Amino acid sequence: MSETGKLRSAEWFESKSIGGFVARSWTKNQGYPHHLYKDRPVIGICNTWSELTPCNGHFRILAEMVKRGVYEAGGFPLEFPVMSLGEALMRPTTMLFRNLASMDVEETIRANPLDGVVLLTGCDKTTPSTIMGACSVDLPTIVVSGGAMLNGKFRGRDIGSGTDVWKFNDDLRAGVMTPDEYSEAEACMSRSDGSCMTMGTASTMACMVEALGLTIPGGAAIPAADARRKRLAHLAGNRIVEMVREDLKLSDVLTRKSIENAIMVNAAVGGSTNLVVHLLAIAGRMGIPLALDDFDRLGSHLPLLVNLMPSGEFLMEDFYYAGGVPVVIQELKDHLHMDAQTVMNKPQSEVTAGATCYNRTVIASIDAPFKPEVGIAVLRGNLCADGAIIKPSAASPHLMKHRGPAVVFEDIEDYHARIDDPALEIDENSVMVLKGVGPRGYPGMPEVGNMGLPKKLLEKGVRDLVRISDGRMSGTAFGTVVLHVAPESAIGGTLALVHNGDMIELDVEQRSLHLDVPEAELSSRLAVWQPPVRRAERGYVNMYISHVQQANVGADLDFLVGKSGAVVDRETHA
Ligand code: FES
Repeated sequence: MSETGKLRSAEWFESKSIGGFVARSWTKNQGYPHHLYKDRPVIGICNTWSELTPCNGHFRILAEMVKRGVYEAGGFPLEFPVMSLGEALMRPTTMLFRNLASMDVEETIRANPLDGVVLLTGCDKTTPSTIMGACSVDLPTIVVSGGAMLNGKFRGRDIGSGTDVWKFNDDLRAGVMTPDEYSEAEACMSRSDGSCMTMGTASTMACMVEALGLTIPGGAAIPAADARRKRLAHLAGNRIVEMVREDLKLSDVLTRKSIENAIMVNAAVGGSTNLVVHLLAIAGRMGIPLALDDFDRLGSHLPLLVNLMPSGEFLMEDFYYAGGVPVVIQELKDHLHMDAQTVMNKPQSEVTAGATCYNRTVIASIDAPFKPEVGIAVLRGNLCADGAIIKPSAASPHLMKHRGPAVVFEDIEDYHARIDDPALEIDENSVMVLKGVGPRGYPGMPEVGNMGLPKKLLEKGVRDLVRISDGRMSGTAFGTVVLHVAPESAIGGTLALVHNGDMIELDVEQRSLHLDVPEAELSSRLAVWQPPVRRAERGYVNMYISHVQQANVGADLDFLVGKSGAVVDRETHA
Protein backbone atom coordinates (compact mmCIF):
# COMPACT_ATOMS: atom_id res chain seq x y z
CA MET A 1 0.00 0.00 0.00
CA SER A 2 1.16 3.52 -0.68
CA GLU A 3 0.98 6.22 1.99
CA THR A 4 -2.29 7.36 0.47
CA GLY A 5 -3.77 3.90 1.01
CA LYS A 6 -3.62 3.10 -2.68
CA LEU A 7 -2.66 -0.37 -3.74
CA ARG A 8 0.75 -0.72 -5.34
CA SER A 9 -0.80 -2.76 -8.15
CA ALA A 10 -3.08 0.17 -9.03
CA GLU A 11 -0.10 1.85 -10.70
CA TRP A 12 -0.31 -0.90 -13.30
CA PHE A 13 -3.93 -2.04 -13.32
CA GLU A 14 -5.77 1.23 -12.67
CA SER A 15 -3.58 3.40 -14.84
CA LYS A 16 -5.21 5.21 -17.75
CA SER A 17 -1.92 5.33 -19.64
CA ILE A 18 -0.82 3.03 -22.40
CA GLY A 19 0.93 1.01 -19.68
CA GLY A 20 -2.41 0.44 -17.96
CA PHE A 21 -3.98 -0.71 -21.21
CA VAL A 22 -1.15 -3.15 -21.80
CA ALA A 23 -1.18 -4.49 -18.22
CA ARG A 24 -4.92 -5.17 -18.32
CA SER A 25 -5.27 -6.21 -21.93
CA TRP A 26 -2.51 -8.78 -22.04
CA THR A 27 -3.46 -10.38 -18.72
CA LYS A 28 -7.08 -10.55 -19.82
CA ASN A 29 -5.95 -13.18 -22.31
CA GLN A 30 -6.11 -15.53 -19.31
CA GLY A 31 -9.83 -14.86 -19.01
CA TYR A 32 -9.84 -12.55 -16.01
CA PRO A 33 -12.97 -10.35 -15.86
CA HIS A 34 -12.58 -6.58 -15.61
CA HIS A 35 -13.77 -6.26 -12.02
CA LEU A 36 -10.64 -8.06 -10.76
CA TYR A 37 -8.52 -5.09 -11.78
CA LYS A 38 -9.93 -2.53 -9.34
CA ASP A 39 -9.51 -2.22 -5.56
CA ARG A 40 -8.34 -5.80 -5.15
CA PRO A 41 -5.01 -6.68 -3.58
CA VAL A 42 -2.97 -8.53 -6.19
CA ILE A 43 -1.27 -11.45 -4.52
CA GLY A 44 1.79 -13.04 -6.06
CA ILE A 45 2.11 -16.75 -5.39
CA CYS A 46 5.82 -17.42 -5.62
CA ASN A 47 5.99 -21.07 -6.56
CA THR A 48 9.13 -23.16 -6.23
CA TRP A 49 7.39 -26.14 -7.85
CA SER A 50 9.61 -28.20 -10.10
CA GLU A 51 9.86 -31.81 -11.12
CA LEU A 52 13.57 -31.33 -10.50
CA THR A 53 12.74 -30.55 -6.87
CA PRO A 54 10.79 -33.65 -5.85
CA CYS A 55 10.17 -32.32 -2.34
CA ASN A 56 8.13 -29.50 -3.92
CA GLY A 57 6.38 -31.69 -6.48
CA HIS A 58 2.92 -31.14 -4.96
CA PHE A 59 3.10 -27.33 -5.01
CA ARG A 60 0.81 -26.76 -7.97
CA ILE A 61 -2.04 -28.13 -5.86
CA LEU A 62 -0.99 -25.99 -2.89
CA ALA A 63 -0.95 -22.92 -5.15
CA GLU A 64 -4.54 -23.66 -6.16
CA MET A 65 -5.51 -23.80 -2.49
CA VAL A 66 -3.85 -20.43 -1.89
CA LYS A 67 -5.81 -19.01 -4.83
CA ARG A 68 -9.09 -20.22 -3.34
CA GLY A 69 -8.26 -18.32 -0.17
CA VAL A 70 -7.16 -15.18 -2.02
CA TYR A 71 -10.32 -15.04 -4.13
CA GLU A 72 -12.48 -15.73 -1.10
CA ALA A 73 -10.92 -12.78 0.73
CA GLY A 74 -11.39 -10.44 -2.22
CA GLY A 75 -7.91 -10.54 -3.72
CA PHE A 76 -6.59 -11.31 -7.19
CA PRO A 77 -4.00 -14.13 -7.17
CA LEU A 78 -1.29 -14.38 -9.81
CA GLU A 79 1.07 -17.32 -9.57
CA PHE A 80 4.63 -17.13 -10.83
CA PRO A 81 7.50 -19.62 -11.00
CA VAL A 82 10.93 -18.93 -9.59
CA MET A 83 14.16 -20.85 -9.67
CA SER A 84 13.72 -23.98 -7.60
CA LEU A 85 16.56 -25.65 -5.73
CA GLY A 86 16.31 -29.40 -5.20
CA GLU A 87 18.82 -31.05 -2.89
CA ALA A 88 18.40 -34.47 -4.41
CA LEU A 89 19.54 -33.61 -7.92
CA MET A 90 21.44 -30.32 -8.20
CA ARG A 91 25.21 -30.33 -8.54
CA PRO A 92 27.61 -29.33 -7.20
CA THR A 93 25.39 -27.99 -4.42
CA THR A 94 22.15 -26.01 -4.14
CA MET A 95 23.92 -23.58 -1.84
CA LEU A 96 25.83 -22.27 -4.84
CA PHE A 97 22.47 -21.11 -6.23
CA ARG A 98 20.66 -19.90 -3.09
CA ASN A 99 21.67 -16.31 -3.72
CA LEU A 100 20.88 -16.56 -7.43
CA ALA A 101 17.37 -17.83 -6.65
CA SER A 102 16.93 -14.99 -4.17
CA MET A 103 17.74 -12.50 -6.92
CA ASP A 104 15.06 -14.09 -9.12
CA VAL A 105 12.50 -13.77 -6.31
CA GLU A 106 13.47 -10.20 -5.45
CA GLU A 107 13.43 -8.86 -8.97
CA THR A 108 10.25 -10.69 -9.98
CA ILE A 109 8.33 -9.36 -6.99
CA ARG A 110 9.54 -5.80 -7.44
CA ALA A 111 9.05 -5.69 -11.19
CA ASN A 112 5.43 -6.83 -11.14
CA PRO A 113 2.09 -5.38 -9.97
CA LEU A 114 2.02 -7.23 -6.65
CA ASP A 115 0.67 -5.98 -3.32
CA GLY A 116 1.48 -9.05 -1.27
CA VAL A 117 3.31 -12.33 -1.70
CA VAL A 118 2.81 -15.93 -0.66
CA LEU A 119 6.04 -17.92 -0.71
CA LEU A 120 5.61 -21.65 -1.36
CA THR A 121 8.67 -23.28 0.13
CA GLY A 122 9.83 -26.80 0.85
CA CYS A 123 13.17 -28.33 -0.06
CA ASP A 124 16.00 -26.83 1.96
CA LYS A 125 17.15 -23.73 0.05
CA THR A 126 13.74 -22.86 -1.34
CA THR A 127 12.89 -21.33 2.04
CA PRO A 128 15.88 -19.04 2.68
CA SER A 129 16.23 -18.05 -0.98
CA THR A 130 12.63 -16.89 -1.27
CA ILE A 131 12.61 -15.15 2.11
CA MET A 132 15.89 -13.38 1.32
CA GLY A 133 14.50 -12.11 -1.95
CA ALA A 134 11.23 -11.04 -0.34
CA CYS A 135 13.11 -9.20 2.42
CA SER A 136 14.90 -7.04 -0.13
CA VAL A 137 11.52 -5.84 -1.46
CA ASP A 138 9.54 -5.88 1.81
CA LEU A 139 5.91 -6.28 0.78
CA PRO A 140 3.36 -8.03 3.00
CA THR A 141 4.57 -11.64 2.85
CA ILE A 142 3.41 -14.96 4.22
CA VAL A 143 5.08 -18.37 3.89
CA VAL A 144 3.39 -21.68 3.15
CA SER A 145 5.79 -24.55 3.64
CA GLY A 146 5.01 -27.74 1.77
CA GLY A 147 5.25 -30.16 4.69
CA ALA A 148 7.33 -33.24 5.21
CA MET A 149 6.88 -36.74 3.80
CA LEU A 150 5.13 -39.40 5.85
CA ASN A 151 7.42 -41.50 8.04
CA GLY A 152 9.62 -43.88 6.06
CA LYS A 153 8.72 -47.52 6.70
CA PHE A 154 11.27 -50.28 6.14
CA ARG A 155 10.94 -53.86 7.31
CA GLY A 156 8.74 -53.02 10.24
CA ARG A 157 10.43 -49.90 11.49
CA ASP A 158 10.40 -46.17 10.86
CA ILE A 159 13.27 -44.76 8.84
CA GLY A 160 14.17 -41.12 8.34
CA SER A 161 15.26 -39.22 5.24
CA GLY A 162 18.97 -38.70 5.13
CA THR A 163 19.68 -39.85 8.68
CA ASP A 164 19.10 -43.50 7.77
CA VAL A 165 20.77 -43.06 4.39
CA TRP A 166 24.04 -42.26 6.13
CA LYS A 167 23.57 -45.27 8.42
CA PHE A 168 22.63 -47.59 5.53
CA ASN A 169 25.65 -46.39 3.61
CA ASP A 170 27.98 -47.12 6.52
CA ASP A 171 26.29 -50.53 7.02
CA LEU A 172 26.66 -51.34 3.33
CA ARG A 173 30.35 -50.43 3.35
CA ALA A 174 30.85 -52.39 6.56
CA GLY A 175 29.10 -55.44 5.03
CA VAL A 176 26.23 -55.32 7.55
CA MET A 177 23.62 -54.56 4.85
CA THR A 178 23.26 -56.25 1.45
CA PRO A 179 22.97 -54.31 -1.83
CA ASP A 180 19.43 -55.70 -2.28
CA GLU A 181 18.34 -54.42 1.12
CA TYR A 182 19.94 -51.09 0.32
CA SER A 183 17.98 -50.85 -2.93
CA GLU A 184 14.70 -51.87 -1.28
CA ALA A 185 15.10 -49.12 1.29
CA GLU A 186 14.97 -46.39 -1.39
CA ALA A 187 11.23 -46.59 -2.05
CA CYS A 188 10.47 -47.30 1.60
CA MET A 189 12.11 -44.07 2.69
CA SER A 190 10.39 -41.61 0.34
CA ARG A 191 6.79 -42.81 0.08
CA SER A 192 4.68 -39.64 -0.17
CA ASP A 193 4.74 -36.03 -1.26
CA GLY A 194 6.86 -33.74 0.84
CA SER A 195 10.32 -32.89 2.06
CA CYS A 196 12.71 -34.84 4.29
CA MET A 197 10.78 -35.95 7.36
CA THR A 198 13.68 -35.83 9.80
CA MET A 199 14.57 -32.58 11.54
CA GLY A 200 16.81 -31.89 8.55
CA THR A 201 17.21 -28.54 6.93
CA ALA A 202 13.77 -28.42 5.25
CA SER A 203 11.97 -29.15 8.52
CA THR A 204 14.32 -26.79 10.32
CA MET A 205 13.43 -24.05 7.85
CA ALA A 206 9.72 -24.75 8.31
CA CYS A 207 10.11 -24.48 12.09
CA MET A 208 12.18 -21.33 11.63
CA VAL A 209 9.40 -19.79 9.54
CA GLU A 210 6.85 -20.54 12.26
CA ALA A 211 9.12 -19.23 15.01
CA LEU A 212 9.67 -16.07 12.96
CA GLY A 213 5.89 -15.64 12.88
CA LEU A 214 5.81 -15.84 9.08
CA THR A 215 3.17 -18.54 8.65
CA ILE A 216 -0.27 -19.61 9.81
CA PRO A 217 0.34 -20.94 13.36
CA GLY A 218 0.85 -24.68 13.57
CA GLY A 219 1.93 -24.87 9.96
CA ALA A 220 5.46 -26.23 10.18
CA ALA A 221 4.80 -29.84 11.06
CA ILE A 222 1.65 -30.75 9.10
CA PRO A 223 2.62 -33.63 6.77
CA ALA A 224 2.52 -32.81 3.07
CA ALA A 225 0.01 -35.61 2.53
CA ASP A 226 -2.38 -34.40 5.26
CA ALA A 227 -5.42 -32.46 4.00
CA ARG A 228 -4.76 -29.90 6.71
CA ARG A 229 -1.74 -28.76 4.68
CA LYS A 230 -4.15 -27.71 1.92
CA ARG A 231 -6.37 -26.01 4.46
CA LEU A 232 -3.33 -24.09 5.72
CA ALA A 233 -2.63 -22.91 2.17
CA HIS A 234 -6.23 -21.75 1.81
CA LEU A 235 -6.03 -19.84 5.11
CA ALA A 236 -2.75 -18.26 4.04
CA GLY A 237 -4.54 -17.03 0.91
CA ASN A 238 -7.19 -15.45 3.13
CA ARG A 239 -4.65 -13.94 5.44
CA ILE A 240 -2.33 -12.36 2.87
CA VAL A 241 -5.21 -10.28 1.49
CA GLU A 242 -5.93 -9.02 4.98
CA MET A 243 -2.23 -8.33 5.53
CA VAL A 244 -2.18 -6.07 2.47
CA ARG A 245 -5.20 -4.19 3.78
CA GLU A 246 -3.52 -3.88 7.20
CA ASP A 247 -0.24 -2.87 5.49
CA LEU A 248 1.54 -5.51 7.59
CA LYS A 249 4.86 -5.74 5.82
CA LEU A 250 7.52 -8.43 6.11
CA SER A 251 9.70 -6.05 8.12
CA ASP A 252 6.89 -5.65 10.68
CA VAL A 253 7.10 -9.38 11.42
CA LEU A 254 10.68 -10.28 10.68
CA THR A 255 12.44 -8.34 13.43
CA ARG A 256 15.34 -8.79 15.80
CA LYS A 257 12.88 -10.26 18.30
CA SER A 258 11.50 -12.83 15.90
CA ILE A 259 15.01 -13.77 14.77
CA GLU A 260 16.04 -14.37 18.37
CA ASN A 261 12.92 -16.51 18.79
CA ALA A 262 13.92 -18.56 15.75
CA ILE A 263 17.39 -19.18 17.16
CA MET A 264 15.94 -20.37 20.48
CA VAL A 265 13.27 -22.56 18.88
CA ASN A 266 15.95 -24.08 16.67
CA ALA A 267 17.87 -25.15 19.75
CA ALA A 268 14.79 -26.75 21.29
CA VAL A 269 13.81 -28.66 18.14
CA GLY A 270 17.37 -29.84 17.41
CA GLY A 271 17.40 -28.00 14.11
CA SER A 272 20.02 -28.04 11.41
CA THR A 273 23.31 -26.15 11.53
CA ASN A 274 22.24 -24.74 8.16
CA LEU A 275 19.88 -22.43 10.02
CA VAL A 276 22.91 -20.38 11.04
CA VAL A 277 24.10 -19.46 7.57
CA HIS A 278 20.55 -18.90 6.27
CA LEU A 279 19.32 -16.79 9.17
CA LEU A 280 22.47 -14.64 9.01
CA ALA A 281 21.75 -14.01 5.33
CA ILE A 282 18.06 -13.25 5.97
CA ALA A 283 18.95 -10.81 8.74
CA GLY A 284 21.49 -9.19 6.43
CA ARG A 285 18.82 -8.58 3.80
CA MET A 286 16.49 -7.05 6.37
CA GLY A 287 19.25 -4.90 7.85
CA ILE A 288 18.99 -6.52 11.27
CA PRO A 289 22.33 -6.85 13.08
CA LEU A 290 23.05 -10.50 13.85
CA ALA A 291 26.35 -12.13 14.75
CA LEU A 292 27.52 -15.73 14.80
CA ASP A 293 27.97 -15.55 18.56
CA ASP A 294 24.27 -14.69 18.97
CA PHE A 295 23.44 -18.30 18.07
CA ASP A 296 25.55 -19.64 20.90
CA ARG A 297 24.54 -16.96 23.40
CA LEU A 298 20.82 -17.38 22.76
CA GLY A 299 20.53 -21.06 21.97
CA SER A 300 23.21 -23.16 23.58
CA HIS A 301 21.93 -22.93 27.17
CA LEU A 302 18.49 -24.15 26.13
CA PRO A 303 17.53 -27.82 26.34
CA LEU A 304 16.53 -30.06 23.45
CA LEU A 305 12.82 -30.71 23.74
CA VAL A 306 12.00 -32.43 20.48
CA ASN A 307 13.02 -36.07 20.08
CA LEU A 308 13.44 -36.20 16.30
CA MET A 309 16.14 -37.67 14.08
CA PRO A 310 19.00 -36.94 13.70
CA SER A 311 19.28 -35.94 17.38
CA GLY A 312 16.57 -38.36 18.51
CA GLU A 313 14.35 -41.16 17.25
CA PHE A 314 11.04 -39.77 15.89
CA LEU A 315 9.99 -38.02 12.68
CA MET A 316 8.00 -34.96 11.58
CA GLU A 317 4.70 -36.84 11.39
CA ASP A 318 5.10 -37.74 15.06
CA PHE A 319 6.00 -34.13 15.83
CA TYR A 320 2.77 -32.91 14.26
CA TYR A 321 0.59 -35.39 16.13
CA ALA A 322 2.35 -34.41 19.37
CA GLY A 323 1.42 -30.75 18.89
CA GLY A 324 4.18 -29.27 16.72
CA VAL A 325 5.92 -25.93 17.03
CA PRO A 326 3.20 -24.13 19.07
CA VAL A 327 3.88 -26.52 21.94
CA VAL A 328 7.61 -25.80 21.73
CA ILE A 329 6.97 -22.06 21.73
CA GLN A 330 4.77 -22.34 24.78
CA GLU A 331 7.37 -24.50 26.57
CA LEU A 332 9.97 -21.80 25.87
CA LYS A 333 7.70 -18.89 26.74
CA ASP A 334 9.90 -17.69 29.59
CA HIS A 335 12.81 -17.36 27.15
CA LEU A 336 11.17 -16.15 23.95
CA HIS A 337 9.89 -12.72 23.00
CA MET A 338 6.25 -13.69 23.27
CA ASP A 339 5.25 -10.19 22.20
CA ALA A 340 6.89 -10.67 18.80
CA GLN A 341 4.55 -9.84 15.92
CA THR A 342 3.27 -12.54 13.56
CA VAL A 343 1.54 -12.56 10.19
CA MET A 344 -1.73 -12.93 12.11
CA ASN A 345 -1.19 -9.36 13.39
CA LYS A 346 -1.17 -10.90 16.84
CA PRO A 347 1.78 -11.69 19.10
CA GLN A 348 3.25 -15.17 19.50
CA SER A 349 1.73 -15.35 22.98
CA GLU A 350 -1.73 -15.14 21.48
CA VAL A 351 -1.32 -17.35 18.42
CA THR A 352 0.20 -20.20 20.43
CA ALA A 353 -2.05 -19.89 23.49
CA GLY A 354 -3.77 -23.15 24.24
CA ALA A 355 -1.17 -25.31 22.49
CA THR A 356 -1.42 -28.81 23.92
CA CYS A 357 1.17 -31.56 23.92
CA TYR A 358 -0.25 -35.00 23.11
CA ASN A 359 2.97 -36.99 23.39
CA ARG A 360 5.68 -36.10 25.88
CA THR A 361 8.01 -38.72 24.44
CA VAL A 362 8.17 -36.68 21.23
CA ILE A 363 8.02 -33.16 22.73
CA ALA A 364 9.42 -33.04 26.23
CA SER A 365 8.57 -30.33 28.70
CA ILE A 366 11.13 -27.71 29.62
CA ASP A 367 11.18 -29.12 33.16
CA ALA A 368 12.06 -32.62 31.97
CA PRO A 369 13.83 -32.07 28.64
CA PHE A 370 14.94 -34.71 26.19
CA LYS A 371 18.59 -33.55 26.41
CA PRO A 372 20.06 -30.71 28.47
CA GLU A 373 21.80 -27.67 26.96
CA VAL A 374 22.34 -28.33 23.28
CA GLY A 375 21.69 -25.76 20.54
CA ILE A 376 24.57 -24.79 18.33
CA ALA A 377 28.00 -24.08 19.79
CA VAL A 378 30.24 -21.46 18.20
CA LEU A 379 33.93 -22.32 18.37
CA ARG A 380 36.86 -19.94 18.31
CA GLY A 381 40.60 -20.49 18.11
CA ASN A 382 43.54 -20.14 15.77
CA LEU A 383 41.95 -22.68 13.41
CA CYS A 384 38.80 -20.58 13.01
CA ALA A 385 39.54 -16.94 13.77
CA ASP A 386 36.11 -15.87 12.53
CA GLY A 387 34.32 -18.83 14.04
CA ALA A 388 33.10 -22.36 13.35
CA ILE A 389 30.07 -24.25 14.57
CA ILE A 390 29.17 -27.68 15.94
CA LYS A 391 25.83 -29.24 16.83
CA PRO A 392 26.40 -30.95 20.18
CA SER A 393 23.08 -32.83 20.13
CA ALA A 394 24.21 -34.72 17.03
CA ALA A 395 27.78 -35.30 18.26
CA SER A 396 29.34 -38.10 20.33
CA PRO A 397 29.78 -37.13 24.00
CA HIS A 398 33.19 -38.85 24.23
CA LEU A 399 34.58 -36.67 21.42
CA MET A 400 33.39 -33.30 22.68
CA LYS A 401 36.79 -32.80 24.28
CA HIS A 402 39.43 -34.36 22.12
CA ARG A 403 43.07 -33.98 21.05
CA GLY A 404 44.28 -35.91 18.06
CA PRO A 405 46.51 -35.87 14.98
CA ALA A 406 45.15 -34.38 11.76
CA VAL A 407 44.49 -36.55 8.72
CA VAL A 408 44.29 -33.96 5.97
CA PHE A 409 42.42 -34.11 2.68
CA GLU A 410 43.40 -31.20 0.45
CA ASP A 411 40.07 -31.22 -1.44
CA ILE A 412 37.07 -33.44 -2.03
CA GLU A 413 38.83 -35.35 -4.83
CA ASP A 414 41.74 -36.13 -2.49
CA TYR A 415 39.23 -37.37 0.09
CA HIS A 416 37.49 -39.70 -2.37
CA ALA A 417 40.80 -40.99 -3.71
CA ARG A 418 42.28 -41.91 -0.34
CA ILE A 419 39.52 -42.47 2.22
CA ASP A 420 39.43 -46.24 1.65
CA ASP A 421 43.11 -46.66 0.88
CA PRO A 422 44.29 -49.40 3.27
CA ALA A 423 47.55 -47.45 3.63
CA LEU A 424 45.77 -44.36 5.00
CA GLU A 425 47.18 -43.73 8.46
CA ILE A 426 44.09 -43.12 10.55
CA ASP A 427 42.62 -44.47 13.77
CA GLU A 428 39.85 -43.60 16.22
CA ASN A 429 41.92 -40.77 17.70
CA SER A 430 42.51 -39.04 14.38
CA VAL A 431 40.91 -35.74 13.40
CA MET A 432 39.76 -35.69 9.80
CA VAL A 433 40.36 -32.33 8.08
CA LEU A 434 38.81 -31.45 4.73
CA LYS A 435 39.92 -28.31 2.90
CA GLY A 436 38.50 -26.52 -0.13
CA VAL A 437 34.79 -26.92 0.61
CA GLY A 438 33.98 -23.38 1.70
CA PRO A 439 31.88 -20.78 -0.14
CA ARG A 440 34.63 -19.74 -2.58
CA GLY A 441 36.69 -22.87 -2.61
CA TYR A 442 34.22 -25.51 -3.77
CA PRO A 443 32.53 -23.16 -4.79
CA GLY A 444 29.22 -23.11 -2.93
CA MET A 445 29.95 -24.60 0.52
CA PRO A 446 28.45 -28.07 -0.03
CA GLU A 447 27.13 -30.51 2.56
CA VAL A 448 30.21 -32.70 2.73
CA GLY A 449 31.41 -31.81 6.22
CA ASN A 450 30.09 -35.09 7.63
CA MET A 451 32.51 -36.96 5.38
CA GLY A 452 32.14 -40.72 5.68
CA LEU A 453 34.62 -42.62 7.80
CA PRO A 454 37.21 -44.95 6.25
CA LYS A 455 35.96 -48.45 5.62
CA LYS A 456 38.65 -50.00 7.75
CA LEU A 457 37.45 -48.08 10.81
CA LEU A 458 33.78 -48.82 10.08
CA GLU A 459 34.64 -52.53 9.98
CA LYS A 460 36.19 -52.15 13.42
CA GLY A 461 32.92 -50.67 14.68
CA VAL A 462 34.08 -47.05 14.82
CA ARG A 463 31.12 -44.82 13.94
CA ASP A 464 32.38 -41.31 14.71
CA LEU A 465 35.55 -39.25 14.48
CA VAL A 466 36.12 -35.54 14.94
CA ARG A 467 35.76 -34.02 11.48
CA ILE A 468 36.60 -30.42 10.57
CA SER A 469 35.94 -28.49 7.38
CA ASP A 470 34.91 -25.16 5.91
CA GLY A 471 31.81 -26.80 4.42
CA ARG A 472 28.34 -27.55 5.72
CA MET A 473 26.56 -30.76 6.52
CA SER A 474 23.06 -31.96 5.80
CA GLY A 475 20.59 -31.20 8.53
CA THR A 476 19.81 -34.92 8.55
CA ALA A 477 23.43 -35.82 9.34
CA PHE A 478 25.10 -36.45 12.68
CA GLY A 479 28.54 -36.88 14.21
CA THR A 480 31.20 -34.79 15.92
CA VAL A 481 31.48 -32.51 12.95
CA VAL A 482 32.95 -29.01 13.07
CA LEU A 483 31.56 -26.92 10.22
CA HIS A 484 31.61 -23.49 8.56
CA VAL A 485 35.25 -22.82 9.52
CA ALA A 486 35.96 -19.17 8.73
CA PRO A 487 37.99 -17.85 7.11
CA GLU A 488 37.88 -20.74 4.68
CA SER A 489 40.95 -22.50 3.38
CA ALA A 490 40.61 -21.18 -0.19
CA ILE A 491 41.33 -17.64 0.97
CA GLY A 492 44.24 -18.63 3.18
CA GLY A 493 42.51 -19.30 6.49
CA THR A 494 44.52 -21.32 8.99
CA LEU A 495 42.65 -24.42 7.84
CA ALA A 496 44.71 -24.19 4.65
CA LEU A 497 47.90 -24.57 6.66
CA VAL A 498 47.09 -27.81 8.52
CA HIS A 499 49.50 -30.66 7.78
CA ASN A 500 49.10 -34.37 8.40
CA GLY A 501 50.04 -35.21 11.96
CA ASP A 502 49.51 -31.69 13.38
CA MET A 503 47.75 -31.97 16.71
CA ILE A 504 44.27 -30.45 16.91
CA GLU A 505 42.40 -29.76 20.13
CA LEU A 506 38.62 -29.54 20.25
CA ASP A 507 36.95 -28.53 23.50
CA VAL A 508 33.26 -27.83 22.94
CA GLU A 509 32.60 -26.86 26.53
CA GLN A 510 35.35 -24.23 26.32
CA ARG A 511 34.22 -23.35 22.77
CA SER A 512 37.74 -23.76 21.45
CA LEU A 513 39.31 -25.24 18.35
CA HIS A 514 43.08 -25.04 18.36
CA LEU A 515 45.78 -26.09 15.95
CA ASP A 516 48.77 -26.91 18.12
CA VAL A 517 51.42 -25.53 15.78
CA PRO A 518 53.69 -22.60 16.74
CA GLU A 519 52.73 -19.23 15.28
CA ALA A 520 56.13 -18.87 13.58
CA GLU A 521 55.65 -22.19 11.79
CA LEU A 522 52.18 -21.16 10.63
CA SER A 523 53.60 -17.89 9.29
CA SER A 524 56.25 -19.72 7.26
CA ARG A 525 53.61 -22.12 5.89
CA LEU A 526 51.43 -19.14 4.90
CA ALA A 527 54.37 -17.51 3.11
CA VAL A 528 54.60 -20.41 0.65
CA TRP A 529 50.86 -21.17 0.47
CA GLN A 530 49.30 -21.04 -2.98
CA PRO A 531 45.55 -20.45 -3.43
CA PRO A 532 43.67 -23.21 -5.25
CA VAL A 533 42.83 -22.87 -8.93
CA ARG A 534 39.72 -20.76 -9.51
CA ARG A 535 36.98 -23.13 -10.62
CA ALA A 536 35.03 -20.81 -12.96
CA GLU A 537 36.08 -18.12 -15.40
CA ARG A 538 32.64 -17.05 -16.63
CA GLY A 539 28.96 -16.86 -15.83
CA TYR A 540 27.14 -16.82 -12.53
CA VAL A 541 29.66 -19.07 -10.78
CA ASN A 542 32.47 -16.69 -11.62
CA MET A 543 30.45 -13.80 -10.19
CA TYR A 544 29.61 -15.89 -7.12
CA ILE A 545 33.28 -16.62 -6.40
CA SER A 546 34.12 -12.92 -6.71
CA HIS A 547 31.36 -11.73 -4.40
CA VAL A 548 30.38 -14.44 -1.92
CA GLN A 549 30.93 -13.59 1.71
CA GLN A 550 32.23 -15.96 4.36
CA ALA A 551 30.01 -18.35 6.30
CA ASN A 552 30.17 -16.38 9.54
CA VAL A 553 28.17 -13.56 7.93
CA GLY A 554 25.77 -15.71 5.93
CA ALA A 555 27.52 -16.44 2.63
CA ASP A 556 25.37 -13.93 0.74
CA LEU A 557 26.76 -12.03 -2.22
CA ASP A 558 28.19 -8.76 -0.94
CA PHE A 559 26.09 -6.62 -3.32
CA LEU A 560 22.83 -8.32 -2.29
CA VAL A 561 23.02 -7.48 1.41
CA GLY A 562 20.26 -5.05 2.41
CA LYS A 563 17.10 -4.11 0.56
CA SER A 564 15.95 -1.77 -2.18
CA GLY A 565 12.24 -1.62 -1.36
CA ALA A 566 9.30 -2.03 -3.72
CA VAL A 567 9.34 1.19 -5.72
CA VAL A 568 9.98 1.09 -9.46
CA ASP A 569 9.96 4.66 -10.68
CA ARG A 570 10.12 4.14 -14.42
CA GLU A 571 7.49 2.75 -16.79
CA THR A 572 7.81 0.18 -19.54
CA HIS A 573 6.21 2.32 -22.24
CA ALA A 574 6.72 5.92 -23.22
FE1 FES B 1 14.43 -31.91 -0.29
FE2 FES B 1 15.62 -33.08 1.91
S1 FES B 1 16.02 -33.40 -0.22
S2 FES B 1 14.07 -31.60 1.81
